[in-house]
Amino acid sequence: MEKQRSFSIKPTRFMVFSFTVSFSLTLLAFFSIWVIHSTPILHQEPHFDLGSGHDPVGDFSSNSSHEVKNAIFIGTQLIGSVNTSGFSNFSRTGSDLNDTQDSLSHLNGSVSELISSVLIAPKQSNLDFDGVVISGNALNAHENGSESLSGKVEVSKNSEIQESSKKLCDVTKGKWVFDDSYPLYTNVTCPFIDEGFSCQSNGRLDKDYMKWRWQPQHCDIPRFNATAMLNLIRGKRLVFVGDSINRNQWESMLCLLVGAIKDPKRVYEAHGRRITKEKGNYCFKFLDYKCTVEFYVSHYLVHEGKARVGKKRLQTLRIDTMDRGASRWKGADIIVFNTAHWWSHYKTKSGVNYYQEGQQVYPRLDVSTAFQKALMTWGSWLDKYINPQKTQVFFRNSAPSHFRGGQWNAGGHCREASQPVNETSRTTYYEKNIILEEVLKQMKIPVTILNITGLSDYRVDGHPSVYGRRPGKSSSGGQDCSHWCLPGVPDTWNELLYFYLQSNTRHT
Ligand SMILES: *[C@@H]1O[C@H](CO)[C@@H](O)[C@H](O)[C@H]1NC(C)=O
Ligand SMILES: *[C@@H]1O[C@H](CO)[C@@H](O)[C@H](O)[C@H]1NC(C)=O
Ligand SMILES: *[C@@H]1O[C@H](CO)[C@@H](O)[C@H](O)[C@H]1NC(C)=O
Ligand SMILES: *[C@@H]1O[C@H](CO)[C@@H](O)[C@H](O)[C@H]1NC(C)=O
Ligand SMILES: *[C@@H]1O[C@H](CO)[C@@H](O)[C@H](O)[C@H]1NC(C)=O
Ligand SMILES: *[C@@H]1O[C@H](CO)[C@@H](O)[C@H](O)[C@H]1NC(C)=O
Ligand SMILES: *[C@@H]1O[C@H](CO)[C@@H](O)[C@H](O)[C@H]1NC(C)=O
Ligand SMILES: *[C@@H]1O[C@H](CO)[C@@H](O)[C@H](O)[C@H]1NC(C)=O
Ligand SMILES: *[C@@H]1O[C@H](CO)[C@@H](O)[C@H](O)[C@H]1NC(C)=O
Ligand SMILES: *[C@@H]1O[C@H](CO)[C@@H](O)[C@H](O)[C@H]1NC(C)=O
Repeated sequence: MEKQRSFSIKPTRFMVFSFTVSFSLTLLAFFSIWVIHSTPILHQEPHFDLGSGHDPVGDFSSNSSHEVKNAIFIGTQLIGSVNTSGFSNFSRTGSDLNDTQDSLSHLNGSVSELISSVLIAPKQSNLDFDGVVISGNALNAHENGSESLSGKVEVSKNSEIQESSKKLCDVTKGKWVFDDSYPLYTNVTCPFIDEGFSCQSNGRLDKDYMKWRWQPQHCDIPRFNATAMLNLIRGKRLVFVGDSINRNQWESMLCLLVGAIKDPKRVYEAHGRRITKEKGNYCFKFLDYKCTVEFYVSHYLVHEGKARVGKKRLQTLRIDTMDRGASRWKGADIIVFNTAHWWSHYKTKSGVNYYQEGQQVYPRLDVSTAFQKALMTWGSWLDKYINPQKTQVFFRNSAPSHFRGGQWNAGGHCREASQPVNETSRTTYYEKNIILEEVLKQMKIPVTILNITGLSDYRVDGHPSVYGRRPGKSSSGGQDCSHWCLPGVPDTWNELLYFYLQSNTRHT
């Protein structure tokens, strides 16, 4: 009885089945086209660097909020189970950009090629899949089983197109514009500025340095909106990892965000730590948004250790080993890295018996090679342990120093500057930035560069100089022309971070 019944239903089932299959194919075709359209754009953006050797199917296992992504997944599964004329082979997991372009340039190719391009698409996880409709028949199935594309695919909302054109905007080219509506907080409204950055509290009288807004040439960066930013990181961990200049940026972020919190008691350090120069790790909770804004000090991102050289035990830098603190950042939702300033001859013992790989301590190694090796170590670690579906990774590149008349430890100064300069004297782009960019190109997971070097270079006026300590304290330390006053230049770096997060995650 039961058997008969199911038999009689079969034609209907078959129709449903066929419909599902063609619907899936339609979706697939659409996404292939979508990939074609977006590929040239993606190509220009370092943070969309497509990796290879990654299992795109595995990427789906994480919880995706995008309905469309889910739909593709269902679609592929259906096709996989149909097995008609070889459709089932979607195992091309090692797809890289070249593969994508290959399959795109042979649009009349088999469905398996289409599927590979579709599977690549969700890896560009920052892109918005919403607001997209398919009109007409995207696919015409031929009797012989190969497929060709016909019909039209439309993107329904202009906003999505604008979104991607916004991404093309180069925020690094522009100028500083005096804007009296800045700063976004003061030494009075923000309790988190530590002594080293609190220029106002330390007696700096001129105020213009707080009032400059970065204006890109061809687009606008939205003014930092603390409420909107907190909504973006609601329930998440925003983590800064790096040296004291990243602590500088992290404190700026705390200050920017706390302005949107009505009851300041609902923001506190998880272990009751007070921010000082000495202690490395801080985790501030924003109870109202169930999010944390954390900082972990890591001067080099790789492991500072000790090794025996001859008879002595020496401080070394393990350029082949990730910083031990890394396990604490692994689960973050957003990470902002930096490292640069400590890679100087002064701080690395001029590279003599300092850099270590395995058991080997290099008698001598130049700082650029060591920096590159360390970043490679960092990059492989990220590729291995960071899930790009969960974690957005940023790297803030080198922040310029402005010592005049000597280095930081030889009487260099910047106190006289109270205005940005119109032109920067530097003609060569920072070598460390170039090394960074090269390393990022070789990585599988996307990393967005917060490219602040050029724009900060105009801001000779932004450093604490002699206002990095309470008045009256001994000035034996010289002037600080490396860090930045708060409020000040790092607020702009955070506006850039806000800009990227906002454009990447906007939904309709
Ligand atoms: C999975 O998604 C659902 C809603 O789509 C959400 O409630 C849940 O928190 C997500 N789980 C994870 C682990 O992200
Ligand atoms: C479908 O293909 C897969 C592998 O491609 C195979 O394992 C499976 O047996 C096939 N199923 C049918 C019904 O042919
Ligand atoms: C898919 O095709 C490739 C070569 O095109 C082959 O090596 C692989 O075994 C096929 N996979 C399945 C599941 O049929
Ligand atoms: C991708 O293609 C370009 C030129 O088309 C080539 O130079 C490059 O080596 C290819 N990369 C890989 C990983 O095949
Ligand atoms: C289909 O693509 C092949 C290359 O893969 C090409 O030689 C052929 O001309 C194309 N056919 C059509 C109808 O475009
Ligand atoms: C399949 O159809 C295409 C046109 O879409 C044609 O070029 C090709 O020769 C056909 N292949 C076979 C084996 O019939
Ligand atoms: C803020 O700076 C002003 C000087 O501009 C100073 O008088 C005041 O004491 C500072 N407040 C705090 C809380 O440091
Ligand atoms: C800031 O963002 C919040 C939440 O998105 C919004 O309600 C508010 O209007 C925004 N404020 C400004 C000044 O744009
Ligand atoms: C920078 O340029 C502006 C206008 O272009 C000018 O008013 C200002 O004096 C210049 N500043 C310096 C230091 O040259
Ligand atoms: C970073 O910005 C500078 C200009 O300040 C530009 O020359 C450089 O190409 C940018 N780097 C990247 C990776 O976009």
